[in-house]
Parts: sequence; C-alpha cells; structure tokens
Amino acid sequence: MRTHAAARGKFIGAALATSPLANETSYRTIAATEFSQVTAENAMKWESTEPNQGQFTFSGADTIVNFATQNNQQVHGHTLIWHQQTPGWVQGLSASAMRTAIQNHISQVVGRYADNPAVTSWDVVNEVFDDNGGWRTSFWYNTLGQSFVADAFRAARAADPDARLCINDYNVEGINAKSTAMYNLVSSLRQQGVPVDCVGFQGHLAIQYGFPSDIQQNMQRFADLGVQVRVTELDIRMQMPRDSSKDTTQATYYRNVINACNAVTACAGVTIWGFTDKYSWVPDTFSGQGAALIYDENYQQKPAYTAVHDALAGG
Ligand code: G3I
Repeated sequence: MRTHAAARGKFIGAALATSPLANETSYRTIAATEFSQVTAENAMKWESTEPNQGQFTFSGADTIVNFATQNNQQVHGHTLIWHQQTPGWVQGLSASAMRTAIQNHISQVVGRYADNPAVTSWDVVNEVFDDNGGWRTSFWYNTLGQSFVADAFRAARAADPDARLCINDYNVEGINAKSTAMYNLVSSLRQQGVPVDCVGFQGHLAIQYGFPSDIQQNMQRFADLGVQVRVTELDIRMQMPRDSSKDTTQATYYRNVINACNAVTACAGVTIWGFTDKYSWVPDTFSGQGAALIYDENYQQKPAYTAVHDALAGG
C-alpha cells in the first residue's frame, strides 16, 4: 500500500500500540511494510507523557518514533490538548496555572521531537466541539473559554516552527453542524494569525449509519481555506458477527474514503486507527460492534484491505 500511496504523493498510515509492537512479529512486519506514516494510539497522550506535573516520560513515544525512523515513516503526533487521557492534576488547575501547564507540556513534548525529521505534524487540539456544533464543555473550556485553542497552537509553533499543526475531530467527515463549526473556527483562527495548518477528520465510521457522501466536498471547502487536510483515525465498524455482505459494504466505505483523499490535492493521506481487528478500541466502546479494520484477528487481509490497496494503486 505504501508504495502506491507514495506514487500519488500521499501517505497511508496506521495508529500503533506499543505492546503488540514489542511482542508480535506479524504486527511489526505489517506495520513496517504496508504503511508510510504512523500515529501513536495512546503513547503520546498527556497521561502517558506527563503523568505527574513536570515529570515527563517518553518511553512509549520514543518506541513509536524509533520504529518509524527505522522504517522510513512519518510520525503524526497525537495529541497535545484533549479532554480524555489527561491526568487529574491538570483538570483541577486554576486558569493561570492551566495556561502555564499547557505551555510547558507543549514545549516539552513538541520540543523533544522538533529536530527529529520523522515527526512532521501534531494534533494540537482534539475534539473541541459537540456534535451540534457548540463548544464541548470540557475542563479546558470551562476553565479557559475558547482561548486554550489559540494558546496551544502558538505554543506548538514556538516549540517546532516546522511541524504541521492540526485540529482534529470526529463526525466532521461530511458537511454538518459540527464540521461547519470547525470550518468557522479554522477560518477565524487563521484570520487572526493563529498557526493552524491542517484539519484532521478522524473517520470513525459505521456501516449501519451510512457513508458521508459529501466527504470530498467537505475536504475541499477546508482545503480552500488554505489548510492541509487528512483522515487521521479511519475505522469502519459493523454489528457483529461479520458476514460477507457487511465486509463488502465496509470495503466500499474504505474505498470511498481513499478515493476522496485522492481527489483532493490538499489531502495528505489517510491513517487507519490500527490495522488488525485483534487490536481495536471499537469492541471496548461499542458493545456488540467490531471488525472495523482491514486485517482480521489473525492478520489475514480482509476485502477492506484490497479496497484500500486498489484505490491507492488505481489510475
Ligand atoms: O494502560 C491501561 C492499563 O494499564 C489498564 O490495565 C487498562 C485497564 O482498562 O487500561 C489501559 O488503558 C487503556 C488505554 O486505552 C491503553 O490501552 C484505557 O483503559 C482505554 O480507555 C484507552 O482507550 C483509548 C481511547 O482512545 C481512550 O479514550 C484507545 O486505546 C484509543 O484507541 C482511543 O483513541 C481515540 C483517539 O485518541 C481520539 N479519537 C477517538 C479515538 C477512539 O476513542
């Protein structure tokens, strides 16, 4: 897949988990050979990198970055400011202490990899909107209002002037209230000179909810603002058990996403949120659902793999 993606000037990526990367040859081999870009599924999040104030731990993050370096892959840093997987000590800070903590965290985490050529981009803020397009009332928002977004982007730019800085969210693949809120925010931030370079569409889809058929149009309207776009966390779940008809629908959805990115010049690539159904967040979160990825639990390629491969390879 990565050879075909490269021929188009795109990446094809996967989120990686540190434990199977250390322990399973099949996992490591597929991760290395099929993908040109990787994202740490959990290892770069705040709870992993700064579990206690001022105590930074980069073992998991370094594992991912070193793997990528060995395999000539780009790393997309994920994620600096999110309302999940952020330690309790952050959540209880006063406004001024929280601002300082954001500055310090971003400066340390982004700064660690600023000179590393593998690490080329970051999800600076993640999931700031509710599905209706209003601001999510997270502890960030409740303590700081909207200002944390601009502050975080400016801190990331200061820590690595060359990294591509992204805002990332889910349920923003099609044109809807949430993606329009994101569009308006990105437009307004850029008008104010806030360094937002990129928009990430997570792409956590489900075959039973239908495909967002205006995904290409949505990507294009963001591209027209002057930002890069990318699909950052693609997976396409189904009600279990799997059957061949669901596999076919899933393959069609995967193909549609790759085709949309192929058709938009500003779309840098597509990252799948894992690659094997053996390791996926889906069954833990959506009871009775699963099989969202392109390899099965035994590392066998599914119809979705062929769809992604052929969409990357095709004329
Ligand atoms: O590491 C602990 C382990 O020590 C403990 O024994 C175990 C018991 O539950 O939990 C382990 O932590 C889990 C962690 O993943 C690492 O495996 C957490 O419980 C679990 O909640 C966490 O889930 C992650 C989830 O984000 C957290 O919200 C998923 O792996 C990860 O795929 C998921 O990824 C997010 C993106 O970052 C943002 N967009 C949505 C996406 C899916 O939710």
